[in-house]
Amino acid sequence: MSALSEAAAVETLRWRDGRLELIDQRALPSRLEYVSCTSAAEVAEAIRSMVVRGAPAIGCAAAFGVALEAQRHANRSRAEFDAAVELAFKNLAASRPTAVNLFWALERMRAALGPKAEEDPKAAAARSAEAALALFKADLETNRAIGRAGAALVPDGARVLTHCNTGSLATAGHGTALGVIRSARDQGKRISVIASETRPYLQGARLTAWEMIQEKIPVTLITDNTAGHLMRLGKIDLVLVGADRIAANGDVANKIGTYTLAVLAERHRIPFYVAAPLSSIDTSVADGSAIPIEERSAAEVTGYAGVQWAPEGVSVVNPAFDITPADLVSGLFTEKGVVTRPDERKIRALFPA
Ligand code: MRU
Repeated sequence: MSALSEAAAVETLRWRDGRLELIDQRALPSRLEYVSCTSAAEVAEAIRSMVVRGAPAIGCAAAFGVALEAQRHANRSRAEFDAAVELAFKNLAASRPTAVNLFWALERMRAALGPKAEEDPKAAAARSAEAALALFKADLETNRAIGRAGAALVPDGARVLTHCNTGSLATAGHGTALGVIRSARDQGKRISVIASETRPYLQGARLTAWEMIQEKIPVTLITDNTAGHLMRLGKIDLVLVGADRIAANGDVANKIGTYTLAVLAERHRIPFYVAAPLSSIDTSVADGSAIPIEERSAAEVTGYAGVQWAPEGVSVVNPAFDITPADLVSGLFTEKGVVTRPDERKIRALFPA
């Protein structure tokens, strides 16, 4: 048994002696290694380069990025401190565009730092570290609440198709869609997972399959284009995915390929559920068409790990996310409970004035 498969709980992010340590998700499942960050610029680069990924984990990392930068400049004048922290906000906000948790977390950190310009930077820096830790701990609790709410709709014996990675690696812990699966298993339900490999970055094959094996939850890996065939054969009971941003009308931005699964689920009358915290809901965008979709490099599609299989010069389109219209979503699992057939009225009701 390798050191990796003996690993206990997955600690995707850890705050150690004033540093942020991140599991390097690019190396999984071959190697479990941590990358250490001491500045906001390093955290922004870790987000950009996919060391850390998954909407809630990106938000937590960005919060720690602000705290790191505040700490680095705590002995400077207040004006220098403010300028450095402002630059950190800018860099972190530019790291990835789609997951709204990033911007949500930065707003929280801005509120925590406050407008107290006359205050000693050391006090502001200490407060920002506390705020980042609080945000991290709250994400874990939120995921457990999502898990409890969603597990009620997962029947004993369910064969659950999931896409991308929505587990401990994508959050502060427990996970969103995978958190629901963990919670259902913890309730004594026999759950099996069908993980789609999630081309082109293979979060399903590399990360979800690894997490499920760690947890001893039965998992079967399929290519993305096998999903329809299995549904037609009656081998999938429900689809359960996460979200990177949910619009006010309930449209869901999630990993590319999610929309295809939602259409297939509708065709086969299989429930299609989305598990996400309220921090993934962006009521400032009316519908999915206003959600920015990240376009990633052609190299992710033309090959993998240094092997190129597509011909030189081929044109590539590589959007990292797609939009699933709200009317294909059977239910949204949140920390405030289950929203069946989400629409604008039900989404807005989650945020009382
Ligand atoms: O590009 P990634 O790996 O950051 O994309 C992640 C996803 O699409 C997840 O499904 C989503 O963030 C939900 S994670 C709890």
